[in-house]
Amino acid sequence: MTRVCVVGAGAREHALAVALARTASVVVAPGNPGITALSPGIACTPRPAEEIDADLFVIGPEVPLVGGLADRLRGRGKLVLGPGADGAQVEGSKAWMKALLVSAGVPTAAHGTFDAEAPAVAFLRQLRGDGPYVVKTDGLAAGKGVLVTGAIDEAIDDVQAKLSGSAFGAAGRRVVIEEGLVGEELSVMALCDGTRAVPLAAAQDFKRAGEGDTGPNTGGMGAFSPVPGAGDDLVDTVMDQAVLPTLAALRRRGIDYRGVLYAGIMLTADGPKVLEFNVRFGDPEAQVVLPRWHGDVVSFLASAAGGSLGPSPGFSDQAAVCVVLAAEGYPTEPRTGDVISGWDAAATMDGVQLYAASVAQDARGLTTSGGRVLSVSALGDALPEARDRAYAAAAMIDWPGRLMRRDIASRAAVGVQGP
Ligand code: AMP
Ligand code: GLY
Repeated sequence: MTRVCVVGAGAREHALAVALARTASVVVAPGNPGITALSPGIACTPRPAEEIDADLFVIGPEVPLVGGLADRLRGRGKLVLGPGADGAQVEGSKAWMKALLVSAGVPTAAHGTFDAEAPAVAFLRQLRGDGPYVVKTDGLAAGKGVLVTGAIDEAIDDVQAKLSGSAFGAAGRRVVIEEGLVGEELSVMALCDGTRAVPLAAAQDFKRAGEGDTGPNTGGMGAFSPVPGAGDDLVDTVMDQAVLPTLAALRRRGIDYRGVLYAGIMLTADGPKVLEFNVRFGDPEAQVVLPRWHGDVVSFLASAAGGSLGPSPGFSDQAAVCVVLAAEGYPTEPRTGDVISGWDAAATMDGVQLYAASVAQDARGLTTSGGRVLSVSALGDALPEARDRAYAAAAMIDWPGRLMRRDIASRAAVGVQGP
């Protein structure tokens, strides 16, 4: 049996492990105790990936990719899904990514890159249009380094906090300021083998902490797939206008990009525009796209890693909804150490799959150990059913201060939303 090592510790890695374990033996490095509690067939190991013997490595998070883990594994002759440090700059530096997009002619928000306050503030003041002000850290900030605000004073304060290093340390000492775009968002993840790319099913993510898209940006509070109105034509447009030109631009720079290119898209009145590229599966998008994936995920990922990608994979007609359960205080200062109750009963519900993110274990049982604690995913014949199942399971799981958004997929499920 093929042996796959999934690198990472969160719910996305758990979802990858479950999908891969249909046809392979899977170890997650390091994973978390919730993964083994919920999926007893999947092993977790504290050993570093470099010390693990596997036929295929799938690297989940951006931080090890930016740090060159894929290069080190390939240097040892391993088959790896995930870009090297060169390709991972697409996510590691928003300034680098924006420059790449502009060179490739990919539609994206107008922007400026700054490491000093005065020109940054001057740029903010001359921005026109209907949209909000957008201030991003250049470096990695776990999805939390983006401010979107209608108030210029707040944007200026944010520029100061980021550039001074007080808000995000070194990641914020350079900022990217963008024109605000308005529209529905869409996540399109594409598998790339260096030259070719094929899309996975589209998903929508909920980035804000609060219901009605209020509050600070987070890593993602929920997702659903498919997205009504985002059919093959729209996905093909995103591939033709965004993903393929970006992959070609990487190639022109001598970068052999083998991994997931995830396009975060805003569907504006002027057509789809790229908000960002990530160099990995989305979290929580993976938790709704992977359960819908037909066929052998292992051989598919291996073919991308090996440079011989086949035709697009198929996805079931079922819908999937994921609701993230987070700890009180997320995304700023999550409270930890609380016992999680009800997860075992919720996990047995029809169509439901729990994925463990920040979960620890002690004599009391499974406990919370970080911001996003559990992903509750459910499949159903259509979005309303998947949504009802996910929320019914989520309602059974509790700990003090548990947070969740109650409006994940709510508009899409009643058909009032669509690009
Ligand atoms: P990013 O990490 O760059 O995708 O940004 C996180 C979130 O901030 C996105 O999912 C959008 O909701 C929002 N956002 C980012 N860039 C813009 C923009 N130029 N205009 C409006 N909203 C944005
Ligand atoms: N869900 C957004 C991300 O994975 O970056």
